Amino acid sequence: MQADTSAKISLAFDVKNYESMSTTVDNKEIKYRAFEYIPYVANPIDIDQQYMNIYVPEEYFNNGTVNGYNTQTAPIFMPNAVGGYMPSQAMTPKVENGKPNSVLYALSRGYVVASPATRGRTNKASDGNFIGKAPAVIVDLQAATAYLHANDSTMPGNANRIITNGTSAGGAVSLLQGAAGNSSDFQPYLQALGAATAATNVYAVSAYCPITNLDAADMAYEWSYKGITSFNKVTMGQGELPQANVGGNAAPPQRTIQRVNLNANDVAYSNLLSEHFPEYVNNLQLHDSMGRVLKLDKNGNGTFKNYVKAFIIDAANKAQAKGTDLSKHTYLVRDNKTGAIKDINWEAYNQFVSRSKAPGAFDSRSNDSGENNLFGTSTTDNNHFTITAALHDTTSNQNVYVENAKIVTMMNPMNYLGSPAATNAQFYRIRYGTADSNTSVAIPLIVGTRAQNLGYKVDMATPFGVDHSGDYDLDELFNWMDNIVK
Ligand code: DHB
Repeated sequence: MQADTSAKISLAFDVKNYESMSTTVDNKEIKYRAFEYIPYVANPIDIDQQYMNIYVPEEYFNNGTVNGYNTQTAPIFMPNAVGGYMPSQAMTPKVENGKPNSVLYALSRGYVVASPATRGRTNKASDGNFIGKAPAVIVDLQAATAYLHANDSTMPGNANRIITNGTSAGGAVSLLQGAAGNSSDFQPYLQALGAATAATNVYAVSAYCPITNLDAADMAYEWSYKGITSFNKVTMGQGELPQANVGGNAAPPQRTIQRVNLNANDVAYSNLLSEHFPEYVNNLQLHDSMGRVLKLDKNGNGTFKNYVKAFIIDAANKAQAKGTDLSKHTYLVRDNKTGAIKDINWEAYNQFVSRSKAPGAFDSRSNDSGENNLFGTSTTDNNHFTITAALHDTTSNQNVYVENAKIVTMMNPMNYLGSPAATNAQFYRIRYGTADSNTSVAIPLIVGTRAQNLGYKVDMATPFGVDHSGDYDLDELFNWMDNIVK
């Protein structure tokens, strides 16, 4: 940790420390107060990453109401701009391509907005040590959440109605915020940072294309894409990952696309991973909404596969009802009489989407993925985080398995959903587009189904033809939020 030479940081919300701002959306002027660069920990490791921006509709300072909310009842929308598990900056209200981003849109709907910056996997201290490896991102988000709870009586908005939002890696950590609330696992980290001593749980979660459940995601990826041996591999400059359209402030890194043909070794590894997936799924003992058990046989077929297909079929029927031209989607199987889509050819669907990552999609055997970089330590940049990849490592380095396997469990919401030691969010909205191959569609559905099986309210869908992106349906997102709050 770096020495803190700054004046003592107060974690008391200062209602006088703001700037008045206004932006016009659809000919309507949105007035708000901006409280920017507010530190959310008293002993930051990196003050440029551990602050948040808070925005409050101006009406709440004049006893006014917006959309039926007042300063006491307004929910707190908590979006992050995390992409690729990289460092992230706090979001700001903006008009992008003629449309309000989620922050500005939230203000127009009467929400208080609190958007934290977070440390990420490439952050370094001046001594060269890494300071943003896992679990830094979730620790920072929990610290920001604790700030909101600690200041609930003086700050506009209701800290018992915090709704998180994020896309891709940001969707993953949004889910993790929802699952891991108040878990003592994070307390030593929060205490070291001087976080407010307060609750870290949230009310609800919105997650777009969450790149989550990382230690099971390699198996799921091969269950989806095992037949595909030639594909376009997407790589970002500096080994960065595809940046989602998260409405953050960073310019997207340069993409390079490379045609890759898997060799026999890759194919063998794909087979090994996909063969492990049924056992993983079966152990979860998931159910559909009718209570039917979701299982896979050793070939990867069964009720779980039909369940995943049903989401895609449903999305295709919705797109068809809206008049979308589906002629290029030749994997869709129609009912001869009604023309409704009744099935998909699973292999052809996955061929159509194609893979964008080689087997070992997340824990790469060559230990060089963004996720390997996430699980580094203060002095080691990259590590394996699954036993399987560590056993099949192709580098000449020794000791490339994570030093502290507990940290891997702390990054996975599956370990907190249903745990009596955590306070889980009660509401989840999860989206994963049918054109996205950044993870297997099974992954977000598994997390959502687990939450649903626990009795939480889960709104899950796989919007048709949508690729790796988020915040594309803000009207519906905020309708859902209003519904669960009011
Ligand atoms: C993101 C994308 C990925 O493919 C991945 O593995 C991790 C994160 C992202 O866009 O945030």
